Amino acid sequence: MNFISSLDNLRVALKTNVINQPHFCSPRRLEVLIVGAGAGPAYASVFTGVNTNIRDARPEAVDTPASTVDVAIVGPDVSVTADLLSGLQTCLGEHGVLIVAGTPVVDWQPDRAVRTDVWRSPFGPSFETITSFCFGASAERRTPDLTLALATPVQNSFPPGVPDEVEHGAGTLDCYQFLIDLHQNVRPRFYTEIGVEYGASLKLAQCAALGIDPAPQLSEALPAHHSVSLTTSDDFFRLADTSAMKAIDLCYIDGMHQIEFALKDFMNMERFCHAGSVVIVDDIYPAHPLQGERIRQSRYWTGDIWKIIPILRRHRPDLIVLPVDTEPTGSLMVLGLDPTNNVLWDNFDTIIDDAIDNMTEVPRSIVDRTEKIDARAKAMKKVLKIVRKRRGTARMATGMIRIRELLADSKLREVRGR
Ligand SMILES: C[S@@+](CC[C@H](N)C(=O)[O-])C[C@H]1O[C@@H](n2cnc3c(N)ncnc32)[C@H](O)[C@@H]1O
Repeated sequence: MNFISSLDNLRVALKTNVINQPHFCSPRRLEVLIVGAGAGPAYASVFTGVNTNIRDARPEAVDTPASTVDVAIVGPDVSVTADLLSGLQTCLGEHGVLIVAGTPVVDWQPDRAVRTDVWRSPFGPSFETITSFCFGASAERRTPDLTLALATPVQNSFPPGVPDEVEHGAGTLDCYQFLIDLHQNVRPRFYTEIGVEYGASLKLAQCAALGIDPAPQLSEALPAHHSVSLTTSDDFFRLADTSAMKAIDLCYIDGMHQIEFALKDFMNMERFCHAGSVVIVDDIYPAHPLQGERIRQSRYWTGDIWKIIPILRRHRPDLIVLPVDTEPTGSLMVLGLDPTNNVLWDNFDTIIDDAIDNMTEVPRSIVDRTEKIDARAKAMKKVLKIVRKRRGTARMATGMIRIRELLADSKLREVRGR
């Protein structure tokens, strides 16, 4: 099985030990050898946009000429032997890097000087160990590459001729008005968002705020109490200096529109949350099934973020998960955050595998917003007041019980017009 986190793990290894090395810099072509039948095509996709020559080899038949490879990668489906690793070391050039993903490497020592970088993936259930053997000049430890190199491309375009019936939003409350109301009611002391773009949502924060976006297009200068990390959210949480992060009172997830990214964003943000945090995930309600596809096919595009609703309901019943009827594409409010909960981390790959392979059609209940709640109902104000007043106190736990009672009130689901 090819776990999606394997690709992220390879990206991290390459950004930490390979593409950050000056001797591998573009326009030089990176010579890559991938060993492992299943790993080949999937691993090759990680190199999108980087000048590479990629060769595949079966573990029992590595016949690549000596000293011709910059990076040799052994996938998790390969049974690793000392002979295989010695053979790959021979293929490597003087400054080459050998990356082994899967289980820890035991009983093998390279026969030349090396820096060995070993870490364990935080994503289960495989929790791959990644070992990088860095030879020659690559042995010098450098800061990781935080550029868009190796990043999954953002889907900005879509095919022409989309029927009119597809291109529309829905909802009763403008998504920015929803955020304005949230800021007023939650009064966050620290706000974070993933996906900044023109800065329209970031600028609503009166408090200290951090945005994360590799390519924002800010329309005005940031105030002194705001900053933006120019990285993808994955890079930010795995490779960047996160010391600017404080305990999050309110956060907004509005970055890459595919479920594996949105779920990781939620998991990473939750680590900085507390029981009284409020997390909002944008784009959970495609107004037409075509808007909810993983591959963009229309101007209005939510991608398959909608899958986060059934995922959180199934795997995190401890959370309060509230789909809000915002315009144009709905917002999910999540309460009861628990930074110590590991369920999503422990099962990440199988959850995403299931979401991609089995949740293939946007359910009618999502397009029709059958579970939407009215964020302007009186009960919602009371909910947010409890969150604000009790956060950081021992009374937050009973507050959550009270919130669940308030939310059981069916009036919340009677969405009023604007
Ligand atoms: C819909 S816009 C955000 C809009 C903004 N939140 C607002 O409401 O004003 C999406 C943004 O996500 C950013 N983005 C795309 N992929 C990302 C990633 N992997 N990590 C962080 N941001 C990402 C894009 O650069 C883009 O600026």
